[in-house]
Amino acid sequence: MARGKFITFEGGEGSGKSTQASHLVTHLGGQGIETVLTREPGGVPFAERLRELILAKKPATPITEFLLFAAARCEHIAELIEPVLSLGQWVVCDRYIDSTRVYQGRLAGIDADLISVVEAQTVAPNFPDLTFILDVNPRIGLARAEARGELSRYDAASDEAHATLRQGFLDIAAAEPNRCVVVDGSEDEMEIARQIAAVVDRRLLGQA
Ligand code: TYD
Repeated sequence: MARGKFITFEGGEGSGKSTQASHLVTHLGGQGIETVLTREPGGVPFAERLRELILAKKPATPITEFLLFAAARCEHIAELIEPVLSLGQWVVCDRYIDSTRVYQGRLAGIDADLISVVEAQTVAPNFPDLTFILDVNPRIGLARAEARGELSRYDAASDEAHATLRQGFLDIAAAEPNRCVVVDGSEDEMEIARQIAAVVDRRLLGQA
C-alpha cells in the first residue's frame, strides 16, 4: 500500500494555521482521501500532557523546553504519525519541526546543529511532504489571536521577537522550496483555502 502524505502548517500566532488545516482536511475528504488532523505540541495523550506542562509555564532553561518539545514529537510520531502514514492515510499537522527550528532555534538560541541532530535521530524519515507557511504581519496575527482569547505565553514576546519568528519561517521556505509554500495569511479565508487546495492537488495528487 502506498504510504500516505504528510502536510504541515506553520506560521506565527493568529496566522490562520488551524483554520486552514481544517479546510484542507475537508477538501481531501471530498477527494476520497482519509486524513487525520493533528497538532503539536500534542496529538496523542502523552504529548498532550507535555503540552499542558510546556504551555503553562516557561521551563528554567531553553534546552529543557527544546527537549520537551522533542519528546512530545517522538511520542506523536510513534503513536500517530508513522502508523497513520503506513496505513496509507494522510496526516495534516498544525505546527511541526519548523516551529522548533524557529521558536527554539532562532528565538531561544538553541544551536541549529543540535536541532538537526535531534531531527535526524527522532523525526527522520517522517519529514513533511509539503509545508504551508502562513505569513501575516504579527500585529494582524496577534490581534486575531487576542480577539479569540487565544493568546499563549509566547504571544507576550516583543515586536522584535515576532519579527524574528516571521523571518525565520520565511528563511526556511526560501531554503526548502520543494517542501515549503508561503501563503499570504492576510487574504480572505476561503481564498487562502482554495490556493492551498490547488497546491496540494497539483503537487501531491498530480492534478493539473
Ligand atoms: P498554541 O496555543 O498551539 O499556539 P498556536 O495556536 O499559535 O499554534 O501554542 C503552541 C505554542 O508552542 C506556540 O506559541 C509555538 C510553540 N511551539 C514551540 O515553541 N516549539 C515547537 O516545536 C512547537 C510545536 C510549538
